[in-house]
Amino acid sequence: MCGIVAYIGQREAYPIVLKGLKRLEYRGYDSAGVAIINDGLKIYKKKDKVAALEEYASSKDMRSHIAIGHTRWATHGEPCDRNAHPHKSGDGKLAMVHNGIIENYVQLKQELESKGHVFESDTDTEVLLHFIEEIKKSNNSTLEEALRIALKRVVGAYVIVLIDEDNPDTLIAARKGSPLVIGVGKGEHFLASDASPIVEYTKEVVYVNDYEIAIIKADELILKNISNERQTPYIQKLDIDLAAIEKGGYDHFMLKEIFEQPQTIHDSLRGRLDAPKGTLTLGGIREHMDLLKNAKRIIIVACGTSWHAGLVAEYMIEELCRIPVEVEYASEFRYRNPVIGQGDVIIAVSQSGETADTLVAIESAKQKGAIILGVCNVVGSSIARMSDAGAYTHAGPEIGVASTKAFTAQLTVLALIGLKVAMERGSISGQRFQHLLNEMDQVSKKVAIALKLNDHVKEIAEKYKDARDFLYLGRGYNFPVALEGALKLKEISYIHAEGYPAAEMKHGPIALVDENLPVVIVATKDSFYEKVVSNIQEIKARKGKVIAVVTEGDTTIPPMVDDVIVVPAADELVAPIISVIPLQLLAYHIGVSKGYDVDKPRNLAKSVTVE
Ligand code: F6R
Repeated sequence: MCGIVAYIGQREAYPIVLKGLKRLEYRGYDSAGVAIINDGLKIYKKKDKVAALEEYASSKDMRSHIAIGHTRWATHGEPCDRNAHPHKSGDGKLAMVHNGIIENYVQLKQELESKGHVFESDTDTEVLLHFIEEIKKSNNSTLEEALRIALKRVVGAYVIVLIDEDNPDTLIAARKGSPLVIGVGKGEHFLASDASPIVEYTKEVVYVNDYEIAIIKADELILKNISNERQTPYIQKLDIDLAAIEKGGYDHFMLKEIFEQPQTIHDSLRGRLDAPKGTLTLGGIREHMDLLKNAKRIIIVACGTSWHAGLVAEYMIEELCRIPVEVEYASEFRYRNPVIGQGDVIIAVSQSGETADTLVAIESAKQKGAIILGVCNVVGSSIARMSDAGAYTHAGPEIGVASTKAFTAQLTVLALIGLKVAMERGSISGQRFQHLLNEMDQVSKKVAIALKLNDHVKEIAEKYKDARDFLYLGRGYNFPVALEGALKLKEISYIHAEGYPAAEMKHGPIALVDENLPVVIVATKDSFYEKVVSNIQEIKARKGKVIAVVTEGDTTIPPMVDDVIVVPAADELVAPIISVIPLQLLAYHIGVSKGYDVDKPRNLAKSVTVE
């Protein structure tokens, strides 16, 4: 949520920052801007996507060896040129970009206004910058000192990067609660909200920690904590390559990521599952296995699609391990003073590993003594680092704002965790354990078969793309799949869609059913199959249009429904990984056919780093 890029070194800074902003655009695209130092501090910023900034700056002299850039997801202040970042100080000498929210900005603004500060924008960011400027001037301190003093009074989350016209050879950055990566090159440094703008220049990176301040010159990186003590930068090697963050011939990142799933699921299993030998290894949770297998309760906290993965995991873990599981929206969990006791284990599920709601939820659970297990995709992310143990999903960078491959990777890893704990607890028979290992071993092949449905699903998308509403239904393991299908459709086609447990339909939503309502029903062969058949009949009796996802070989449902999508057979515990594929494709094709930018749906951003 909001992307930051900065550069200092011998090269031209603007093209590097511009390219970086394009890579980070998935984090927000309400406006974009850059600040450079070229015969004084210059700021160029524009409402809309990075392309608008590029067009605007094309006629300007953008030469500079230092630059900061920002792509915005609006929080305080409507999207417009004035509210775009970078912001500048009252004297026009400092420029700053910010990702996060300054919660006490109203109070700070009042104090500053009483001292004569005038603001050009409605943002909390400009207030923070003026606050830093005020301290710098009134204390006659350096920018670094002023920043340190200011940050001690700031309530909220931030990554900020500043440049100073009077010190054109230095970038200053600070972080609390939002991500910041520094790429270390030869005589140059790169800063960004994630590694994607950096990877083509250097693989050596430093992840800045909360409450750290970085003072960065072309050939020097100094890290300090908020008490002004030097910290040793811990340089890590990036394990992503450039191809992973480019479209590779696909029209959209979303389609590329949908089609990557056989590989990404395989990657999630690699080194962990050896079905022929009957073994399952999860190195990241090994040391905490005693706590996990003896857990009195498991609480899964997550948001959005990751929350849906958590719901599937609830079914899996309760069935396999016989441990009670609760699945919580991270935002609600945090603020309702939850009861957390001895023997509770929290599993935080997050693609980005940076979602503020999830991060804050586990922070407070940790303070209450809970053990945190992270299931994250982004290596080195804040949630991964805050967790006591965990397992990465290894789906590779997910750029499309609507999550696809991260979801199936989460389901894969959560299934492995459930299986491993069940085996350690002795709550699963050897035969069932081996059967499920075999099923997991086959799942990426079955996903590849489901992807062959692409053209068929595209035809279905054409048929229903003008519907005003959609209902998605499923039971058991397929209920969260229905929720996920509905969320995907809402996000990228802006069609109202609701996911519901199929049996609950008769308790209310059935009132919506008529000949204009398409109902997508996930009706694969599982323990609830017969009941779902009855639900389909209830819809057909009211003339609803039914699109059914069924298991190969099913001869009962196809004659009853309007459209059929046939997926390979799988154990019901594994089936969601396969049955979600056509729902992802359906949402994608409807979004594209309506002419929307499916990779950057309106109002959304990936990696929601504000609460
Ligand atoms: C939906 C989507 C969001 C995220 C949610 C949590 O397609 O991507 O609902 O799942 O914002 O994000 P992470 O998993 O990064 O914590």
